[in-house]
Amino acid sequence: MKRPLLALALSLALHFHARSADSLALTPPMGWNTYNTFAGNFNEKLIRDMADLLVTSGMRDAGYVYVIIDDNWTGARDSLGFLTVDAGRFPSGLKALSEYIHSRGLKLGLYSDAGYKTCGGYTASRGHEFQDAMVFARLGADYLKYDWCNTEGIDARGAYATMRDALLATGRPMVFSMCEWGNNKPWLWGRGTGQLWRTTGDITSCWSCIDDHGGKYNSYGVMQILDMQEGLRAYAGPGHWNDPDMLEAGNGSLTATESRAHFTLWCMLAAPLIAGNDLRTMSKGTLEILTNNEVIAIDQDSLGIQGFRHTGPDSLETWYKPLKGGDWAVCFFNRGSKPLHIGHDWKKDVTHDDVAGLELNCARHTYSLRDVWKKTRIGTTADGLAATIAPHDVLMLRLIQ
Ligand code: GAL
Repeated sequence: MKRPLLALALSLALHFHARSADSLALTPPMGWNTYNTFAGNFNEKLIRDMADLLVTSGMRDAGYVYVIIDDNWTGARDSLGFLTVDAGRFPSGLKALSEYIHSRGLKLGLYSDAGYKTCGGYTASRGHEFQDAMVFARLGADYLKYDWCNTEGIDARGAYATMRDALLATGRPMVFSMCEWGNNKPWLWGRGTGQLWRTTGDITSCWSCIDDHGGKYNSYGVMQILDMQEGLRAYAGPGHWNDPDMLEAGNGSLTATESRAHFTLWCMLAAPLIAGNDLRTMSKGTLEILTNNEVIAIDQDSLGIQGFRHTGPDSLETWYKPLKGGDWAVCFFNRGSKPLHIGHDWKKDVTHDDVAGLELNCARHTYSLRDVWKKTRIGTTADGLAATIAPHDVLMLRLIQ
């Protein structure tokens, strides 16, 4: 083949490959993961309980379908090099648990790492990628989170492409969640490799803090993670998502208001919604946050546009997200520690989304306003908006065409 033809064929092949990879997660994945609450303290009984609670609480029906078993589930390799399951945690075997999860209308997520060992020191996939992918497929996995501990000297792009190819070779569709903490700017090359990529180090359950784990690594509060998303929105879209890490709603020192704001902001970011709270002790308030269908609809909007913010005076941030059919989500967020009185003159609100090439033009068009947390209509953009927003709280509106 002549050079230009070869180049064209290659770029078409890459284009179609990226497209078909995208189809595995056309909206941000939703589920529940063991790590934020349980780290390594889980077994098959706990995961079955969580699966049951996802169903009985209504979370599954709200969209949380992936049950993701994070680090600490693998055993040693057998004599042929196949990965085994930690028998102490899974006396009935992981296949039985997988069948149970599927029987409840849920999907199974598993975890591995591109090094020889996971972050927790358990067996990981380096040098066994194709064999491990086969095991994940046999176990009925629908999702793989692939971590980045113990990978000194390895090329991230290559390592993630190898596991992507290994997953593809099994013939079983598995969402591929790339977890290299944003170290190698995966937003620049991740599309066509995985469906979501972490943009930061780990989240922790505080509003604003940095935990340096005795100098070993940092984990970050909700506000720190939020600010690290700046400049990344152009790289996200249906099937290829920026992942600002899992939800801490209902965890640690977050108040109910902060949990609600955290959830709201993740929805404005079109982030994957992976809950990480203990569903056995979840409060009614946390459940209401996690299952508000109108808020989730903003995250799951099929345009898949990540929102953006305008920073105003007095700790006010105004977040915008274009939605399908000409609607917009607009969220007023009080980052400060005092109640904030806001007055918003909609008729002066002409906001451009330079990435998506869309415009919210309230000067030319009147939208009706819906408070999606309260699920009530609150007038139209023909009138000014006056509201008081409590510290760390949000007013999230859907502007309806
Ligand atoms: C981290 C990862 C966390 C969790 C943990 C498990 O590297 O970012 O989300 O998976 O490892 O040890």
